[in-house]
This record gives sequence, structure tokens and C-alpha cells, in this order.
Amino acid sequence: MTEHSAAALVQEGITQLSGCSDSPRLDAEVLLQAACGINRTALACDPDQPVDPQSAAAFFVFLKRRSQKEPIACILGHKEFWSLEIRINQATLVPRPETEVLVETVLDAIPPDAAVDLADLGTGSGAIALALAAERPLAHITATDISRAALSKARENAKRLGLDIHFVEGDWFAPLAGRRFDAIVSNPPYVRQNDPALEAGPARFEPATALFAGEDGLDCIRAICADLKHHIKPDGLVALEHGHDQQSAVRGLLSAAGLESIVHVNDHAGLARVTSARMPH
Ligand SMILES: C[S@@+](CC[C@H](N)C(=O)[O-])C[C@H]1O[C@@H](n2cnc3c(N)ncnc32)[C@H](O)[C@@H]1O
Repeated sequence: MTEHSAAALVQEGITQLSGCSDSPRLDAEVLLQAACGINRTALACDPDQPVDPQSAAAFFVFLKRRSQKEPIACILGHKEFWSLEIRINQATLVPRPETEVLVETVLDAIPPDAAVDLADLGTGSGAIALALAAERPLAHITATDISRAALSKARENAKRLGLDIHFVEGDWFAPLAGRRFDAIVSNPPYVRQNDPALEAGPARFEPATALFAGEDGLDCIRAICADLKHHIKPDGLVALEHGHDQQSAVRGLLSAAGLESIVHVNDHAGLARVTSARMPH
């Protein structure tokens, strides 16, 4: 088997990824570190260091996956969210930066010393619940998902990060019968079925149950809003992430569910991607 130097592998990576990634060098270096344990500093200090054949083979497998536009996070199996390392699997969505706006919205509404009861619906990897648990250690957080495989990854993340979250499996509020919360947060699926923008993009590597929500993308938000009144305490907060063109539909659904003080929050691109509301007293 040919022995490659670290620099030669990176160069090969840049060549293969140039047509399919906006950051071929960075991607090649990150994949080199994941496959061969050689970080950017070690690469800069000793570019000619030899790489053992098994590690080089692992690097080439990663490179092939990346050249098919698979997101780096899916290849590595983890993604940073709210400064936490969140592990992911094939059943979980890759946590997105815009979801940090949802976390910020909830944190703005919950004082640090409040022992609130909080639910995260459709927790996936657990990203939102984990970030909230890290910031609000006194909160009692329950996180749900319909996917057992996603919940198992979320549980694993909570254990590894030492964060206390109660996980339950089921369809939206079904596993929360009889329970009311001070705050309900969710980043549910909200993509229109067969959205052409997603078919060619990196989301094709993610689970359809985490993305799609019927013809108008609102099926899940509709299902959640339909049951809110049974699960939110008076003056309780609801915060939902949604698509950039769904704000008025979400406002209508929350208003029909009896919520007031409805506020849209923009993401860092200036698009309204989060809506919060309160249940009146
Ligand atoms: C857009 S992903 C969000 C994941 C995670 N909360 C995040 O922000 O990265 C939506 C999640 O909702 C879950 N989900 C889909 N349908 C559901 C249902 N009927 N009941 C509960 N969870 C559901 C999916 O499995 C997925 O984990």
C-alpha cells in the first residue's frame, strides 16, 4: 500500500472537494484530523509526516462522502451547538445555528433562578433541551420525540454532558398526558413535502421525519397548537421555530389556540424564524 504524507492527503482532499464545497481546505483538514488524528497545528509543524495506510483509507472514505455533499457533521457524528458538543446519528437532525435563536428567546423569558417546568417537543439530538439545561440548572426539563433512535442519542448526550433531562417517547403531547408546563419549546419539522430546494441539498442526508410536515409544512405546528391549551400553565410561554415564510400562519395558529403577546424573532439573517407567545391568565 502506498504511504501518503499528511500534506499530500490534504492536497488530494482539496482537489476532490473543490467543485463541491465552499471550504475545501478546511474540510480536508477537519477530515484529516477525524480520520488520522492529525490536527491543523500538527499538520503545519510537520506536513511531511507519514500517515499509516488504515488512517489514510479512512480519510479517503470520508472524502468520498464529503464529495457527495454529505454535511461534515454527519460524517463526524457531532456538531457544536450552544458551545456543547452534540453527538448525532442517522435519526437526528444536525442542530442548526438558527435554533440558537429559539434557545435565546426562551432564556430571555426565564430568570436564571426559576425552577420552571419546561418541555422540549421533538428533541432530536436533545440540542435545545441540553442548551436550556446547561443555562437553567434549576429547570425541570422533559424532552420528547417520536423517534426512539433519536431519543437514545439525546439520552447519551445528556449523560455525557452531565445534564439532567427526563426523556419520553411519543407523538407530540401524547406522552405528556395530564401535565402542564411553564414553557413549551419546539423546533418541529416544518418543511413542505417534496420541497425541491431540499432534494439536492445536504438535508437529503437527514431523516425525513425530522424535516417534512405535509403540503404546507405546517402539519406538526398545527398538531402542537391544537393541544397547547391542555398543557400550558396560565401565563406560560410557547416558543416555536418555523420557516421564514410561515410567521403569519404560525401567528394565526397560536392565536386560534388562545395564546396572546405573540412576538416574532428574527434569525441572524434577519428572517422571522421563531415565534413566542403567552397563554393568558
Ligand atoms: C426539526 S427536528 C428538531 C430536532 C432538534 N429539536 C433540533 O432542534 O435540532 C424535529 C424533531 O421532531 C421529531 N418529530 C417528528 N414528528 C414527531 C411527532 N409526531 N411527535 C414527536 N416528535 C416528532 C423528529 O423525530 C425530530 O427529532
